[in-house]
Amino acid sequence: MIKTPREIVPKILQTVTQATSTKNASVNTTEWAKYFEFQITGNAEEKKQLSAIVDACARFVKSVKAGDQPYWLSLLGTSGAGKTYLARKVWRWFSHSSFFRSSIDDDTKEIIYPGSWCNWPRLAGELLGNSGYGRLEDLQTEKLTILDEIGADRDPSGHVRDCMSRLLSGRVGKWTLITSNKSLGDVDRDIDTRVASRMLRDGSIVVEVDVSDFSKRK
Ligand SMILES: Nc1ncnc2c1ncn2[C@@H]1O[C@H](COP(=O)(O)OP(=O)(O)OP(=O)(O)O)[C@@H](O)[C@H]1O
Ligand SMILES: [Mg+2]
Repeated sequence: MIKTPREIVPKILQTVTQATSTKNASVNTTEWAKYFEFQITGNAEEKKQLSAIVDACARFVKSVKAGDQPYWLSLLGTSGAGKTYLARKVWRWFSHSSFFRSSIDDDTKEIIYPGSWCNWPRLAGELLGNSGYGRLEDLQTEKLTILDEIGADRDPSGHVRDCMSRLLSGRVGKWTLITSNKSLGDVDRDIDTRVASRMLRDGSIVVEVDVSDFSKRK
């Protein structure tokens, strides 16, 4: 049966409302921390920041599940905070979920791969050695990408930075989880102003933590 616009509009509105509510929904931090096997330790301020990072990852998972408008989640801050550890847990969930499936692009008819984990410094090394370009292209199109440790590479010529800017322009509007031990200000100054501003645009979320190394917290 053909639906009238009157029937369709409330459905669209409902989808929009759902999208917004998943992203801002309150989550049970204790349960999610348990699910991610992520210990929330340290002083009161550290616990608050670590809870915020768990909540953001929980909402990211929930938003992917709910089919929301894709956004970027950037986990930034001090070394040993558990950013990569948590990103791995999100990756493990995704790679074992029913969302981890290839599909075909309606327009180009090309395969869209479900996603991958990318250790950025390793790819940066390849790019400096004039390889890794195919991988860079694949990373632009896949549904969900985790870019671990951006900015941890040596890049005297700025070539790696340019590749990353290009990659990230291609990932606008796609699920992207980024980790870096740089602050947003450092990303802006040391990597690329455009990357820093995209981390904040179009509903993307930045969580910055300033906590001591996991092994030194109690
Ligand atoms: N909250 C946590 N609960 C349990 N283990 C943790 C937690 N945080 C960190 N760890 C442990 O500490 C190790 C180091 O953490 P991780 O590599 O995630 O830090 P990071 O924030 O990515 O640091 P860097 O910025 O240097 O990459 C992890 O491999 C994990 O074993
Ligand atoms: Mg890390």
